[in-house]
Amino acid sequence: MSHILILNGPNLNLLGTRQPETYGTITLKDIEALCAHEAKSLGVTYEFEQSNHEGTLIDFIHNTKAEGIVLNAGAYTHTSIAIMDAITSVNKPVLELHLSNIHQREAFRHHSYISNVAFAMICGLGASGYPLALRAMAGHLAL
Ligand code: DQA
Repeated sequence: MSHILILNGPNLNLLGTRQPETYGTITLKDIEALCAHEAKSLGVTYEFEQSNHEGTLIDFIHNTKAEGIVLNAGAYTHTSIAIMDAITSVNKPVLELHLSNIHQREAFRHHSYISNVAFAMICGLGASGYPLALRAMAGHLAL
C-alpha cells in the first residue's frame, strides 16, 4: 500500500479566512477530510502536515517514511532553494500543488523552484486539487 505525505507551507493554516476571493472559504481541516476520503477510495495511506517554518518543512521532507510527497509550499515555492535541495536530497517523487493559478497572479509568483524538481504540477483548481493530486501521486507510485 503506498504511503503519501501531503505537506503544506506557510499561511495555509489560515485557509477559510485568508483571502477567500483567492483561496476560497474551505479550511485546511476540510481539505484534510477530502484527502482522507480520497485516500480511502484509492487504498493508500497518508500523512497531512502544515508548517509556517522553512526548516520544519525541510525536516518533514527528510524524515517522512512516505514514498511520494504532494507539496503546496506556499510562498516558499517562489523563494526556497533549500526546499528544492531537500527534495533532490531525498530522491522521492514530488507533485507540486497550488490552490490558485500562480501564472495568472503577480509576476513574482510565476517562478517556482519546486517545479525544477517536481514530476508534475497542479494549480488553479482550489481545494479539489488536493484529492486530484493524491490520485495522481498514487498512480505515479503504482507505475
Ligand atoms: C499558493 C500560491 C502561493 O503563491 C502563495 O504564496 C500561497 C498559496 C496556492 O496554494 O495557491 O501561500 O501556494
